[in-house]
This record gives sequence, C-alpha cells and structure tokens, in this order.
Amino acid sequence: MQSVNTVLEASEISKSFPSKSGRGLLQILEHVNLKVNRSEITAIIGSSGSGKSTLLHILGGLDHPDSGDVFWENTSIYSWKPDKLAEERNRQVGFVFQFHHLLPEFNALENVFIPGLIGGYSMGEAETRAMGLLDRLGIADRSNHRPSQLSGGEQQRVSIARALMNNPSIILADEPTGNLDERNTDIILDQLVELRETEQVAMVLITHEKNIAARCDTIYELRQGSLHLYEKTH
Ligand SMILES: Nc1ncnc2c1ncn2[C@@H]1O[C@H](COP(=O)(O)OP(=O)(O)OP(=O)(O)O)[C@@H](O)[C@H]1O
Ligand SMILES: [Mg+2]
Repeated sequence: MQSVNTVLEASEISKSFPSKSGRGLLQILEHVNLKVNRSEITAIIGSSGSGKSTLLHILGGLDHPDSGDVFWENTSIYSWKPDKLAEERNRQVGFVFQFHHLLPEFNALENVFIPGLIGGYSMGEAETRAMGLLDRLGIADRSNHRPSQLSGGEQQRVSIARALMNNPSIILADEPTGNLDERNTDIILDQLVELRETEQVAMVLITHEKNIAARCDTIYELRQGSLHLYEKTH
C-alpha cells in the first residue's frame, strides 16, 4: 500500500554483477523491499561488500536494478525519461557521500547554491538559502573558503548543506561520517537528527558504526542480498 507519508519505496529490487572470475553472476540484492516515511531516519548496516552502496545508488536512481521498482513520493522513477529523472533527482533527493565530492574550484557558498541554480532558484534566492543552510550547520564563517581550506568535518557539513539546498524529501547518505573523527561524527550526527525535524527530511544512512545506527528510527542489516530488521537491543 502506498501512502502520502511514504517518501521512498523500493519494491522487489534485485541486482547482480558479473563475478570477478568473469564466469557467472554475483547476486548482490535479492527482492529487496524498503519503505521510508517522511522525517524518518533509516540506517542500513552490513559487512563490507554486502551491497549497501549498490542499494543506495539504486534508491537514488544512479544505478538501475535488474528487476524491481523504486518510487519517490509514490511515482515510479522508471516511468521517467533520463532528463526528467535527473531533474526530479536534483529536486527530491540529496546525496551525501563519505568523500564529500565538493567542487574544488568553488567556495563553500557556491558549492551549496549551484544545485539551487540548476533547480530553478534565482541567484539572489539561491545565495540567501545557501547562506542560511551554512549558518544552520554552524559554518557560515567558512562560506568563502574552498574545500581544500576546510577541515574534513567542515567539508562534510558543506556537503550536507548542499544536499538540503533544493529542499529534498529525502537524503541518501553513504558512510557520511566514515572519514571523520569521533567529535566530528557526533556533530554531524546531531545535525542530521535535528535537520529531519527542522527540514522535514527523511534519510537513509549507511553506516558501519552501530552506535550511529542506534540513533536512527529503524535499522536494517543487509545480509545475503536481503534487508533484515535489526533490533536495537543487539
Ligand atoms: N560496477 C560493479 N561491477 C562489478 N561488481 C560490482 C560493481 N559494483 C559493486 N560490485 C560488487 O558488488 C558487491 C557489493 O558492493 P557494494 O559497493 O555495494 O558494497 P558495500 O556494502 O557498500 O561495501 P563497503 O561497506 O565496503 O562500502 C561487491 O562485491 C562489489 O565488488
Ligand atoms: Mg559502500
């Protein structure tokens, strides 16, 4: 059943890759189902190579499954042509990766507002919103620094601000704190938890760290191609 409260749904997602030996296929995902509600934070844990990044790419429309469907706000993303998918992705989904992927030749403010310009904001509106987001993430004073002039934690906060620029309904984050020390991990996590309230944004958070997962609403473990509900009492 689809509902107005569901921002992202994956239905029966399967994906395989050619095995490293070149013979046969490696089944990575098998009939994966997932529903994420508005403002809900879902963590996905699982061992290295279990398929977490593959699943996240499929949820974000960056990769195509062998079978199954993905819905954003109850619309199948495969009903769209590639241009429309790219436009909807820019508007509805924010990505945060372990390595921030900021544009090195632009400063923090520009990195945040560029997706806004693509998303249809005027220059003035984009700059104002980007500055507000940097402020909310506590790094307004770093707005004209380039990525190379920022610490790892600051770079990651810029990439979170960038992900929020177009007011997405969901943020997909792949090991967002994987590259940070404990203090910066705590700061980023506190900010993500706060943002889901203030920005009404849902999140799917891939993490190796169980203490991070414990702060999320729902935890799944990806194991042998399937998502298993993971009890917080583990
Ligand atoms: N494009 C590809 N071609 C072939 N095999 C791939 C491709 N992408 C991923 N794989 C394989 O699929 C499996 C799952 O990879 P994936 O990156 O999704 O794992 P992961 O759970 O994110 O691991 P990690 O925790 O190390 O990031 C791995 O065995 C990987 O080698
Ligand atoms: Mg990965």
